[in-house]
Order: sequence, then C-alpha cells, then structure tokens
Amino acid sequence: MLNTPSRDSLNKIVVLNPKGGCGKSTLATNIAACYARRGAMPSIMDYDPQGSSIAWLKRRPDDLPRIHGIAAYKKSMQATRSWQLRVPDETKDLIVDSPASLSHDDLRELTRDSSSILVPVLPSSMDIDAASSCIADLLLVAKVNRNEGKLAVIANRTRKNTKSFARLMRFLDSLGIPIIAVLRDSQNFVHAAERGVGLHDMPPSRAYPDVEQVDKIVGWLDGWEARRKRALRIMAVRNNKPVSRVTAIHKTQAGSA
Ligand SMILES: Nc1ncnc2c1ncn2[C@@H]1O[C@H](COP(=O)(O)OP(=O)(O)O)[C@@H](O)[C@H]1O
Ligand SMILES: [Mg+2]
Repeated sequence: MLNTPSRDSLNKIVVLNPKGGCGKSTLATNIAACYARRGAMPSIMDYDPQGSSIAWLKRRPDDLPRIHGIAAYKKSMQATRSWQLRVPDETKDLIVDSPASLSHDDLRELTRDSSSILVPVLPSSMDIDAASSCIADLLLVAKVNRNEGKLAVIANRTRKNTKSFARLMRFLDSLGIPIIAVLRDSQNFVHAAERGVGLHDMPPSRAYPDVEQVDKIVGWLDGWEARRKRALRIMAVRNNKPVSRVTAIHKTQAGSA
C-alpha cells in the first residue's frame, strides 16, 4: 500500500486520473514551476513508475527556481518508507503526481489530507468514461465530500467547437464539479516538458495564452484554506454544532484516517 506524508500546514495537491496520457504529469510539473517562481521551494512526489515528473526535474536547468523531487514509486531497501517520502520543511506546497492504476486503498491513501484534487480530462468518449468512473471512485470510495470544494476538473487538449468538447462540458456540468481551466492542445506544453521547464519559466509572449490557464488553476488552488473553512462552516450549520467543535472533529478524523 502507498504511504503519503501529512502535515497540518502542507498544501497537498493531488493530480489524478487512472487514464494514462490525460495530462497528469504536465499539470503537476507546470503547477510546481509556478509555485517555485513564487518563492518557497515546492516538492513533487511522483508515484507513477514511469517517473515522468522526476525525469522532467532532472532535465530542469540549474538556474531556474528549485523544485524538490520525491521518487515515491521507488522502493528503497536502505531507508524507511517515511524517510524516503519526507518532505523538506521549507516546502509549503506538495504536488502529487499519480500512477495510471490505483487500488481503492491507494486512492484513499493518496487523497488523504489533500487540500485539492485535480482531475485532468481529455475530450474523447473513452476518456470521458474513464474520468466519470474516477470521479465516482473519489466520491464513493475515497469519500471526498463535494461540499468541501476540493475537487476540480481540468479539460485538457481541447479543440473548441468539437462535439466531444461539448459533451465533456455537459458531463462535468451534470456532476456539479467545477471546470477550473480549459487547456488548449498546444506545443508550449510539449516544449516545456522536453526542456524541464514550466510555462511560467518561458517568455510570457511565447507562453501566452496557455499560461493564463495555468494561472487560473493556481488561483483556484490558492483558495484551499478559504474553501476548507467554508466547508466546515456549512457542516457546522447542517449539524447545528459550533464551528470550533466541527474543526476539532475534522482534525481528529483527518488524524485517524
Ligand atoms: N495541453 C496539451 N497540449 C499538448 N500536449 C499535451 C498537453 N497536455 C499533455 N500533453 C502531452 O501529452 C502527453 C501525455 O501527457 P502526460 O502529462 O504525460 O500524461 P499523464 O501523466 O496523465 O500520463 C505528453 O507527451 C504531454 O506533453
Ligand atoms: Mg504521468
């Protein structure tokens, strides 16, 4: 079973969708590159045996803001699992890149104590089906509460005005889960991946307009504490309990999960 670290103040962002090629590593690396530009060193924890995010980090030029990499897919005989997965103290934002297949236990473990969960979806029938079962598992198996507002979808590699794009939008709308960004099918993402950079490391004139969508994603991610507080307030009103008591219950549940 997977193990993931938890720390109260850690902004743990999980990018997942069991469908390979939907853009998990692209998203994880671009979010990390954006956080790195802002100051505190983010970490990427890569659970996918393909190790795309770790390979991207190895290609990253030395003169760019640092990102710490944790190759969680590797099992070490020399170190304990918690040592292997340790997150540096200076990291405030942890981005988790996930593998193509996840058991139910792994799904629960990976999403435990997460502040945000991002599901990238491609606009093909097969991908839409895979995404709907992934979202169902998140809600029913990992018990992600939609009211917590931590789950969002990113429509990736879209070509506007196609039938599949319209179908994707209808599908997401029916779930009531926000689509926080729509990424174009753009060579900017391909070039960034090849060079170990994020869109935020590219000249703005080149990265435009794709970088605007990454900014939208990060803007939404930045609201995680406000979203969590709002969810706790809603829970408190529903259960007719004082907010402080609900916060304590929430913390106890998070600790014992
Ligand atoms: N918006 C995009 N535009 C163009 N290419 C993309 C885009 N998103 C992802 N890709 C490319 O698609 C391939 C699969 O993406 P990747 O992020 O590795 O998917 P996953 O991690 O889900 O398997 C990569 O070659 C990546 O560069
Ligand atoms: Mg990947």
